[in-house]
Amino acid sequence: DPEMTLLTYLRRKLGLTGTKLGCAEGGCGACTVMLSRYQTHTQQLLHYAVNACLAPLCSLHLVAVTTVEGIGSVARELHPVQERIAMAHGSQCGFCTPGIVMSMYALLRNNPKPKMADVEEAFHGNLCRCTGYRPILEGYKTFTVVRNTRYLTPVNVDLFSATSLFNPADFTPFDPTQEVIFPPELMSLSKDQRSGLLCFRGDRASWLQPDSLDEFLRLKWEHPDARVVVGNTEVGIEVKFKNMVYPVILAPAFIPELNNVSHTADGVVFGAACTLSHMGAVLKKAVETLPPHQTEVFLAVLEQLRWFAGLQIRNVAAVGGNIMTASPISDLNPVFMAAGCRLTLMDKDGSRVVQMDDGFFTGYRKTVLRPQEILLSIEIPYSKKFQLVSAFKQSPRREDDISIVTAAMSVTFTPGTDVVEDLRLSYGGMAATTVLAKKTANGLLGRHWGEELLQEACSLLAKEMTLDPSAPGGMVTYRRTLTLSLFYKFYLTVLQKLRLQVSEHSGCFSYRCLQTVLLILHRFIIQSLRPDDSVGRPMMHLSALKQATGEAVYCDDVPLYENELYLALITSSKAHANILSVDASAAEKMPGVVTCLFADDIPGCNATGPIEHDETVLAHRQVTCVGHIIGAVVADTQLHAQRAAKAVRVQYEELQPIITIQEAIAAKSFYQPIRTIQKGDLEAGFKQADHILEGEIHIGGQEHFYLETNVTLAVPREEGEMELFVSTQSASKTQSLVAKALGVPANRVVVRVKRMGGVSGGRRAGPPFCRLLSPWQQTKTVRCMLDRDEDMMITGGRHPFYGKQGETTPPVGFLNSGKVVSLDVSYYSNVGNSMDLSASVMERALFHMENSYSVANVRGRGFLCRTNLPSNTAFRGFGGPQGMMVTESWMTDVAQSLGRPAEQVRRLNLYVEGESTPYNQVLDQITLDRCWDECLTRSGYQERRAAVDVYNSQNRWTKRGLAITAFQKMSIFSVCVCVQAGALVHIYTDGSGLHTKMVQVASRVLGIPCSKIHISETSTNTVPNTSPTAASASSDLNGGAVQNACETLNQRLQPYKTKNPKGSWEDWVSEAAYFDRVNLSTNGFYKTPNLGYDFETNSGRAFNYFSYGVACSEVEIDCLTGAHKNLSTTIVMDVGNSLNPAIDIGQVRGLGLFTLEELHYSPQGVLLTRGPGSYKIPAFGDIPAQLTAVGEPPLFLAASVFYAIKDAISASRAESGISGPFRLDSPASAERIRNACSDRFTKLCPPAEPGSFTPWSVQV
Ligand SMILES: Cc1cc2nc3c(=O)[nH]c(=O)nc-3n(C[C@H](O)[C@H](O)[C@H](O)COP(=O)(O)OP(=O)(O)OC[C@H]3O[C@@H](n4cnc5c(N)ncnc54)[C@H](O)[C@@H]3O)c2cc1C
Ligand code: FES
Ligand code: FES
Repeated sequence: DPEMTLLTYLRRKLGLTGTKLGCAEGGCGACTVMLSRYQTHTQQLLHYAVNACLAPLCSLHLVAVTTVEGIGSVARELHPVQERIAMAHGSQCGFCTPGIVMSMYALLRNNPKPKMADVEEAFHGNLCRCTGYRPILEGYKTFTVVRNTRYLTPVNVDLFSATSLFNPADFTPFDPTQEVIFPPELMSLSKDQRSGLLCFRGDRASWLQPDSLDEFLRLKWEHPDARVVVGNTEVGIEVKFKNMVYPVILAPAFIPELNNVSHTADGVVFGAACTLSHMGAVLKKAVETLPPHQTEVFLAVLEQLRWFAGLQIRNVAAVGGNIMTASPISDLNPVFMAAGCRLTLMDKDGSRVVQMDDGFFTGYRKTVLRPQEILLSIEIPYSKKFQLVSAFKQSPRREDDISIVTAAMSVTFTPGTDVVEDLRLSYGGMAATTVLAKKTANGLLGRHWGEELLQEACSLLAKEMTLDPSAPGGMVTYRRTLTLSLFYKFYLTVLQKLRLQVSEHSGCFSYRCLQTVLLILHRFIIQSLRPDDSVGRPMMHLSALKQATGEAVYCDDVPLYENELYLALITSSKAHANILSVDASAAEKMPGVVTCLFADDIPGCNATGPIEHDETVLAHRQVTCVGHIIGAVVADTQLHAQRAAKAVRVQYEELQPIITIQEAIAAKSFYQPIRTIQKGDLEAGFKQADHILEGEIHIGGQEHFYLETNVTLAVPREEGEMELFVSTQSASKTQSLVAKALGVPANRVVVRVKRMGGVSGGRRAGPPFCRLLSPWQQTKTVRCMLDRDEDMMITGGRHPFYGKQGETTPPVGFLNSGKVVSLDVSYYSNVGNSMDLSASVMERALFHMENSYSVANVRGRGFLCRTNLPSNTAFRGFGGPQGMMVTESWMTDVAQSLGRPAEQVRRLNLYVEGESTPYNQVLDQITLDRCWDECLTRSGYQERRAAVDVYNSQNRWTKRGLAITAFQKMSIFSVCVCVQAGALVHIYTDGSGLHTKMVQVASRVLGIPCSKIHISETSTNTVPNTSPTAASASSDLNGGAVQNACETLNQRLQPYKTKNPKGSWEDWVSEAAYFDRVNLSTNGFYKTPNLGYDFETNSGRAFNYFSYGVACSEVEIDCLTGAHKNLSTTIVMDVGNSLNPAIDIGQVRGLGLFTLEELHYSPQGVLLTRGPGSYKIPAFGDIPAQLTAVGEPPLFLAASVFYAIKDAISASRAESGISGPFRLDSPASAERIRNACSDRFTKLCPPAEPGSFTPWSVQV
C-alpha cells in the first residue's frame, strides 16, 4: 500500500515493536531507524537515520533497514550504544530510548570517532520527556574522540565527596569493525540491475517509481495531478493529518539527473531530489575550497540548514521538496530568493529557466509551475566581490522547529565604497508566500551603509512588512518587530564585515552559533552504607537494558490478537453546542467497519469522572469542549476505523462558549467550592505597610506530552470478565470506572499496567476511551492508541492560572526594608468542562501561596473557572508550581519597586524555624536558610552578579540576568484517601517481585541482593489499594508498603535464620521454610500517619513533612529576537537520603513550563498546537550549559530561569530608560521576551487596539 509507512509495516506486519510511535509527524524521533543503500553513481554505501513514521514503505526498494532489534538484544548481545545509554542512566520510561539509540548508531556507522558536536547534531530530531538529556549525553560522550574538557567534571568537586553515577570502565569496548554488513544480495542487485518502472498499487493510491527522466516526464504528462514525492516529509503530513488523498504518486528519488550536483561558472547546480544533508555536505566542501567572497550565499544556506528540522528529516527531505511546497515559512526559499537562484523547470516538451523572485510564488503554496512540469534543478550562485549575504531564522525553540519569521538579506556595494548598489531583503512568515521587501530595498539604493540608511530602512520596513492583527500564526507585533530587528542584525553584521566602527556589536550575535557548553556535575554522596545495601546507590533502572534494545513491552507492543479490532474516536469540533443529529450511515458502509458506538450503547452508566461523576463516557445531546468524545468506530484495522470516524457527520446547534479565564470571570462561571485560606489580620497588616503594590500574572497550561500516547487493549475473558492493558497511573481507579461504564462488578475487570512511556499526572484515571473499549459485545479484543494530535486535543493538561493580588482590599503590603506584611491574592484556574481533580489542584496552589516566605497577614482565594476546554487535570507539581509562580512574581515586584536586589528581599522574607504556614502548620527542622546560603556560595552568586553587571554595561543588545529562588515542597497528597499504598510480595523458592526503587527497598529489608528480586507489573487482581503514582509520594507510600510486607516475611523467616545463622537465603527459604509449610506470600500496607487538614476551620495537619530547595540560574537573552540561553543553574535541594541518586536526577519539564511550552487555542476553543511540530518541549540543546545539582531538583526550581530572564529584560528596559515592576507572563517565550524589551524597534510596531480584531489565538 503506497500509503503505508515503514513504521506501520514494522510494528503491525513484522511485529518489530522496538521502533516506537510517538507523533507520526517526524517531530520526536521515537521511530528512528537506519537506512542503508548503495549509491551506484558514487559507488558509495550510505547509512542514514530516518523517521520510520514518514518513510513510505514503497520508497525502500533496494534499501536495507536496520531497527533497534537488529543491533543487539539482552538475550543475544548488547550493542555498546544500547549498553551505554542504559548504564549511564539515560533511559527512564524508555519510550524514547530506541530512537535515541538508533540516531547514535547511525552516527557511529558513518563516523566511528565523532566529536561531541556531532553527537549533539545527531540528536536534533530526538526528544525525551524524562531524563533531562544530561545522562544520555554523558553516556555517549564516551564514544567521542576529543574529550572536550568542557564536558568534564569541574574543579570545585572537592567541596563534596562526589561519586560518578557510572563508571565508563564498566562499558563494553566499541569495535566498529563488528557491525552488521550491508546485505550482499542487495549490493549485487543495486549494482547490476536497472529497476525499470516500479509500480505498487493500493486501495486508494498507486506508487510509480520511474528510473529515468524521460519516463518521469512522460508520467507527469499523463498524470498532471500526480503528486511528486521524494522525502515525503511534507506529503506524508498532508496525508496523515490533512486527510489528503493522492491517487497517483510519482517517486523520482532515484533518477540520476535529479540527484546530480554540478559546479558551473556561476554556481553549483543541485538536482531537485538532492537531500538537504547532501546539499549541506557539498556546500560545506565548497566553502572550504573556494575564495571567501564567492561563498557568502553558501554560508547563508548552511546557516539555515543547520537549524532545519532534525537530521532524520534532512537525510531524506529534498531541496526541490522545500521549494515546491512553497510554504511561507520555508527556511531555504528566502535565501534562494535573496541570492537570485535560478530554477530549471521541465516537461515532456522541453525545459525553461526561471528566476526565483517574487514572481515565482503565485499564492499560498502555489508556484508558476504548470501541472505537467517538474522542477529539475536549482542553481545556487557564487556570491560576487562586494556582495554580503546573511540568513536568519527565529523559532520558538532553537533546535528542530519551524520558523516564526525567517529572512535572508543580500547587499552589493559599489566597488570600493559603502554605497548600496543592489539590495534584496526577503522574508518568510510575513505573508502567504515568501516575499521580497522591494519598496524598502529600492528606497535604500545609492545610500551609504550608515545610521541614516538604518533609520530609513526601519521606517520603510515597518510600513511594508505589515500584518493583519488577526493573521494566522498570531504573534503579530512580535513578527513585525522581528522584520526590523533582523534587518538591524544584518546592518550590524555588514558594518562589521566592512570593518567599520561597530559600537553595538552584541546585536550581531546569534545564539544559533553558540555551541552547547555542557559542564555537568551531578554529585551524590554514598552515606556509609553496608557494601551489600543497594539503597542510596545509583542503581541502573531495572528495565533500562530492555528499553535500549526495544525488548521492553509497552501497551501497544502487546502482539496483535487474532481477529483483533481497532477503535477510533468521533470527537466534537465545537466547544459548546447541542447535538442535533449524528449520521453514521456513510461510516458504517466503509471497508472493515464493524460497528459505531454512541451514548445509548453504553451498557452501564454513562456518567464518569475520577472524583465527581460530571463527565460522560460519550457525549449525550450536548458537547462542552472541542475533542469531547461523541462516539467511536470499531473496525478491522486502525486505518479503517480512523477513516470511518472522519466520515461520521454531526450536526450542531452552537452555543456561546467560555474559553478563557477572563471570560469565565466576566461571566462568573465558577465551580464550587471557592476555597479560602486566611491567617492574621489583613487590615492591620495593610495599615502597617509602608508601600502597597498591585500585580498580576498569567501562567500558561502545559501538555503532558509523555512520549507514549494514551493506549488501551481490552481482552474479553470467560464469564464476562474483561482484562485491560492500560497505560495508567491508577489501576484501581481505572478498574472502578470501567466497571461502572460496563455495569458489572469491579471484580469482573482486571487492569494490568506493565510499564508506561512516561507519566506526569495525565494518566491518573486511565484514558477516557478505555471505558469504551469494553462495552461492545465483550467478545472481541479491541485496541485503541491515540494519535498524538488526538491525545493533545482530547485530554487536558496542567491548569492555566491567573494570579492577581487583591480584589477589593489592597494586594501586597510591605515595609521599606522589603519585609512583606500583608498579602491578599486570588487564584483563578482554567478548569475546563469537568471538575476532575481541579479542586485539589487549587487547594495545592493555595497551600503554596507563600512559597517559602513568611507573611503575617495573608488571605488566598481559589476560583475554579468553568470553561469549554477539555478538562484540565493533575500534572507534576499538582498546582504547586502555579501557586509559587504567583508568589515569586509579587516578590520580584516588591524588590523592583524598592530598587533593592531581589535576592536580599527574598532572603529577608524566608521562613524561619517555628513560624507557621497560612494553614497553621508549625514549621520545624527547616533547612531553608542552609540551602539558600549554600546555593549562594556554590553558585558564586555575588561574583556572578558583579560579572553580569559588567557584561550588561558593555553589551546593548544581549543582556544577562541572574535569579535565586527557593522552594518549599510538601511531601505528599493532601487528599487523605490517596495517601495509602499496598504491596504484594511473594517469595518464590527461586526469586521474588516489584519497581527499581521498590526492589532496592525490598533488597535492604530482606537482606538479599537486588538480582534475586524481580519486577513484575501493577494489576488490580493482586493489589486492590493502589494509589496513583503521583504527587512525589510514590516512593514514600509504596516503599512503606513494600517495607511492611518484607518485614512480615522476615519475621516468618527469622526462626530459620536463628537456627542456621551462616545459612544462605536459599537455605532459609527453599530448604527450610518451604518444607515447614511457611506462607511465603504476604501483602504490605502503608498509610501516611496523622493527616487531616480542614479548610473550614483552617486546622489539622495538611502535610507529613516538608523539604526545601534553592536554585540559582543565569541566562543571557538576545534583546532583538527574544531568544535566550541558559548559562548556568545551581540547585541545592535537601532530600534527606535519596533512594537512588541515578533515578532522582532532574528533568527539564519545569524549564519547558516556564520558558518554552505554549498551548495556543483559537477564540472558539480549538487547540492549535497539536503535536511536536507546533508544541515545543525542551530539546537536547535547551538544558543549561552548566548545571550543578545536589539532590532531586523539583519542577518549580526551574522558575529561577524565568526570573533570571525577567532580570535580564529589566536590564534591557533600563537602556530605554524604563524602570520598576512590569508584567511578564509565563512561559517567557521569545515573543514575550522581545516584546518586553521595549526599544526603538518595538515603538515602530505598536500592537493593534485590543478588541478591535479577532486574534488568531487567545490566552486561556
Ligand atoms: C518534522 C519536520 C520538520 C520540518 N522542519 C522544517 C524546517 O525547519 N524548515 C523548513 O523550511 N521546512 C521544514 N519542514 C518541511 C519539509 O521538510 C521540507 O519542506 C522538505 O524540504 C520537503 O522535502 P521532501 O522531499 O520531503 O518533500 P515531499 O513531501 O516529498 O514533497 C513536497 C512537495 O514538493 C513537490 N515536489 C517535490 N519534488 C518536486 C519536483 N522535483 N518537481 C515538482 N514538485 C516536486 C511535491 O509534489 C510536494 O508537493 C519540516 C517538516 C517536518 C515533517
Ligand atoms: S513517531 Fe516518528 S518522529 Fe515521532
Ligand atoms: S526516557 Fe525519554 S521519554 Fe521517557
